[in-house]
Amino acid sequence: MKEQAKYIEEHKDRFLEELKDLLRIPSISADSKYKEDVMKTAEAVGKSLKEAGADKVEICPTPGYPIVYAEKMISADLPTVLVYGHYDVQPPDPLNLWKSGPFEPVIKETETHPKGAIFARGACDDKGQMFMHVKAFEVMNKTNTLACNVKFMIEGEEEVGSANLGWFVERNKEKLDSDVILISDTGILANDTPSITTGLRGLSYVEVKVTGPNRDLHSGLYGGAVANPINILTRMIASLHDENNHITIPGFYDDVDELSDEERAEMAKAPFNLERYKKALDIKDVWGEKGYATMERNSIRPTLDVNGIWGGYTGEGAKTVIASEAFAKISMRLVPHQEPEKITQLFKKHLESIAPEAVTVEVTPHHGGDPYVSPTDSAGYQAASKAMEKTFGKKPVPVRSGGSIPIVALFERELGVKSILMGFGLDSDAIHSPNEHFGLFNFYKGIETIPLFHKYFAEFK
Ligand code: BES
Ligand code: MN
Ligand code: MN
Repeated sequence: MKEQAKYIEEHKDRFLEELKDLLRIPSISADSKYKEDVMKTAEAVGKSLKEAGADKVEICPTPGYPIVYAEKMISADLPTVLVYGHYDVQPPDPLNLWKSGPFEPVIKETETHPKGAIFARGACDDKGQMFMHVKAFEVMNKTNTLACNVKFMIEGEEEVGSANLGWFVERNKEKLDSDVILISDTGILANDTPSITTGLRGLSYVEVKVTGPNRDLHSGLYGGAVANPINILTRMIASLHDENNHITIPGFYDDVDELSDEERAEMAKAPFNLERYKKALDIKDVWGEKGYATMERNSIRPTLDVNGIWGGYTGEGAKTVIASEAFAKISMRLVPHQEPEKITQLFKKHLESIAPEAVTVEVTPHHGGDPYVSPTDSAGYQAASKAMEKTFGKKPVPVRSGGSIPIVALFERELGVKSILMGFGLDSDAIHSPNEHFGLFNFYKGIETIPLFHKYFAEFK
């Protein structure tokens, strides 16, 4: 594909400038202050798809943020690739830990990215990765090398649980008719170790509120005689893991798909360096469920983690007080075949059962999502594997990821179409953290690899 390489070479600087423009808009879906910016980003994505050569571009309204739909249908005889991605981003906080503004993209060299990386919120998750598809589409268009029909569905609520994407999918099954869904919203093991994600964890996310006395109390006058909601909450949370770091909620593991020894041995072959892992995080040791390796703990095993906890006095100095209320946000990452609703109910029931009479416990479910696993013998996986092998010079390894993209299971259920998770980010790219970045090597590698996916998919299908 010489003409594609030539086109990329001639336009690569512009591609990067366009990505920077997109990264400058703070499309934070979680914060309603940014509503106009999120809407503006949808428009900008639509415009870029139009300019890249889409025949039809629609900014489809939903009860929440719009979904950008675009297509170029070249022949009814060719297969259709549906690209999914998201244009919304996580809030950038804590702002003081950013070395440059989260919405002022800059290129800097790093140890892992000697050719430079673009630093900004959304650089990797997922504007940068989604934009690779827009540019790859432009490349195929302008060089007359489109091998498949192409559709795009880019949403603006992924980071807040994709509440309206299901709504959209149910109402637009025909429009979304396709042979494969292609997603770059995951990562590879390393720049010299390509991989394809074959699994995602599911999610059950809950908020807990513990209420004690009807007002904040003097901790001297009442301390020792009244249940302190923060003490009780932390004690209950601590009891949710046993000494082997096993989760203690009755029934929690009932539906967990246990891997066979062969499957685990296969997994253990993926390159992983524990010392480097610890060093990168500045930790003396790892932590997790007894009997499982680090790479198993963060992918094929379920977890329970406190994401936030608050209550009482946290301002300057000391205030002697027993707070009336305490709160925590807790996420449980799920594996096949755990069901988010069932796990949420088990959690709620268990927490209520261990709560002492002296307090009231309320559990409020937030969003959830089903886990996903995909086979490696599908035309889509084979096309992705061959495309990456060609551009990386190495056959990619299948890897199950610990992250979640809840909508992937819904696509399969509602549309009957499999998703291929061909991402190009690195775990060290700091997604959701301060100083998120995306390697320029990775950005251009994606733009180079995606057209090959289309080519091989048309051949294998
Ligand atoms: N792109 C990520 C998920 C991801 C990243 C999967 C890297 C695998 C590897 C996605 O945007 C994300 O952050 N998902 C959320 C879930 C969502 C319901 C908020 C997550 O995993 O926490
Ligand atoms: Mn993402
Ligand atoms: Mn994310």
